[in-house]
Amino acid sequence: MNKVIGLFAGSLRKESFSRKIAKAVAAMAPAGFEFKIISLGDLPLYNQDFDDENQVPESYTIFRNEVKVIDGAIFITPEYNRSVPAVLKNALDVGSRPYGKSVWDGKPGAVFSNSPGSISGFGANHHLRQSLVFLNVPVMQQPEVYLTKVDELFDEQRNIQKEEIREFLQKAVDAFIVWFNKNSSQ
Ligand SMILES: Cc1cc2nc3c(=O)[nH]c(=O)nc-3n(C[C@H](O)[C@H](O)[C@H](O)COP(=O)(O)O)c2cc1C
Repeated sequence: MNKVIGLFAGSLRKESFSRKIAKAVAAMAPAGFEFKIISLGDLPLYNQDFDDENQVPESYTIFRNEVKVIDGAIFITPEYNRSVPAVLKNALDVGSRPYGKSVWDGKPGAVFSNSPGSISGFGANHHLRQSLVFLNVPVMQQPEVYLTKVDELFDEQRNIQKEEIREFLQKAVDAFIVWFNKNSSQ
């Protein structure tokens, strides 16, 4: 059976570069793997009362069940104010609770950050890693993926038009598969 890797893009914007990168990455899965884009847009802001008072929104249940059955995760994050956009942090929080039932636990991960600017989402990349350490997600260390000038990356058909970036992303995906095979407990 194929191993399933969830792709999480940290933006809800229609023309989001992160979502376009996720779509490009989805096509890079090697044999034996399926890359599945998992949507974050329906999740209300996390409120612990939902869990404590047994009033869990249906969208939380759907999301938690989707993440429970994936084998690994690639996070494709833009940067908001030098950190992780709230929509992605919220998804991490939703999946991490109720206490002791985190759906992220032990799943190998990778962080690909991006920006139209020159710092490439470095701040978001490392803030995200901080949360993933706590969530017991072993995060790929090399190669680090910082994509710059993403506003110039796509052609009008939303395909990556810079071949060297496409090749770099494929190398990062290949390295992630090696990382996954070393760190996956199943
Ligand atoms: C609230 C907000 C904060 C932002 N902060 C940063 C930032 O700290 N660093 C950065 O490189 N770009 C920043 N940007 C610009 C984003 O990189 C840019 O909007 C990008 O297109 C967002 O990702 P997306 O294309 O996936 O939606 C910010 C944008 C918004 C809306």
